[in-house]
Amino acid sequence: MIFDTHAHYDDKQFEEDREELLNSMKENGVGTIVNSGATLSSCQKSIELAERYPFLYAAVGIHPDEAGSLNEESFAWLKAQLSNENVVAVGEIGLDYYWDKENHETQKQWFIRQLALAREMHLPVVIHSRDAAEDTFEILKEYAADLKCDIHCYSYSLEMAREYEKMGYYIGVGGVVTFSNAKKLKRVVAEMPIERILLETDCPYLSPSPNRGKRNSSLNLKYVAEQIGQLKNMSCEEVIAQTEKNAKEFYGL
Ligand code: NI
Repeated sequence: MIFDTHAHYDDKQFEEDREELLNSMKENGVGTIVNSGATLSSCQKSIELAERYPFLYAAVGIHPDEAGSLNEESFAWLKAQLSNENVVAVGEIGLDYYWDKENHETQKQWFIRQLALAREMHLPVVIHSRDAAEDTFEILKEYAADLKCDIHCYSYSLEMAREYEKMGYYIGVGGVVTFSNAKKLKRVVAEMPIERILLETDCPYLSPSPNRGKRNSSLNLKYVAEQIGQLKNMSCEEVIAQTEKNAKEFYGL
């Protein structure tokens, strides 16, 4: 069944129909979802969702745009949440020089601290990296070469993907791969081994075509799997089965 490795069902865009939508996942072929935290409050909400829905798990971590909200006290709270049995990863954490909401030193400092936390708690890591390819790679090589990482919403070059492949990392692929202008990502997906690819929505964002621009949900992942299948000469079913295996391995489920 489909494994959505990165979703944000705590988002207010799901306020109206969250329960109905999540209850319809199984019958639509979606077997597992990991809801990713980004802020302190979304971490809390992700855990609440995971406690409520048996097929949903939480990743807990502070997004680079929110790095300024971390201090020793909130960091200790974060660490305490990682012992919850419904929490399967640290994330999403990383660097974002596109929105550039926090200065780079603050972003780097808390990225590195959270990587150390993942090691201490023996958890895999979901990485957010936008317009920060070099700094992200340098930090991961120095501080996380021994950790299991997923470069979520992968947007960099094939050469960089090859480096991450050597480190045993995974890349997260979602709606963007279906966009006609996503030539670089299509090439990365065509060349990377299917064993290193994870399906993700990042919903409510990044809806694949034919639903581009609308609110995204895990129900759209079949379009992503189809596109990956076309790029790799595999059936949609094979892509779904292999990426589910990858995701279970990554999250230790
Ligand atoms: Ni996300």
